[in-house]
Amino acid sequence: MRKALGVVAAAALAMAGCASVGEELGLAKAAAAHRGEGLATAKCAGCHTIAGGAASPVSRATPFPEIAKRYTRNGLTWELEAINDVGHYQMPTTALSRDQMSALVAYIHPQQGPS
Ligand code: HEC
Repeated sequence: MRKALGVVAAAALAMAGCASVGEELGLAKAAAAHRGEGLATAKCAGCHTIAGGAASPVSRATPFPEIAKRYTRNGLTWELEAINDVGHYQMPTTALSRDQMSALVAYIHPQQGPS
């Protein structure tokens, strides 16, 4: 019973605070996505198409809109960790900090909630 009340209270709080919390999260996400865009332009766009439907400069490098469909946020984070450690098949190892990874994930997956 205690637990159920807690859930109801949390739900009520979530509803009451929804607009402002949502706005803050929205801003944080937008900022991360913006950093991700800068990173993608600097570090990824030489090989991958990072937006739009054009073929990638390196034909084997999957365009980012396609990567967004292929991976969940967690899957993409895991993939970037692997790329940071050992690369990905023909993709060379690319050093990425935690912060850079989450910015890239926010950029590639802007429509999903923060992870
Ligand atoms: C030197 C060229 C190059 C650069 C720079 C590069 N990539 Fe790649 N990337 C590739 C290639 C080629 C593949 C496909 C590897 C394969 O399947 O053999 C790939 C694959 C990937 C995959 C896996 C996609 C899939 O098909 O499953 C992800 C995710 C990825 N890259 C993300 C990134 C990110 C993020 C950056 C920038 C930080 C980046 N790449 C920079 C060449 C590059």
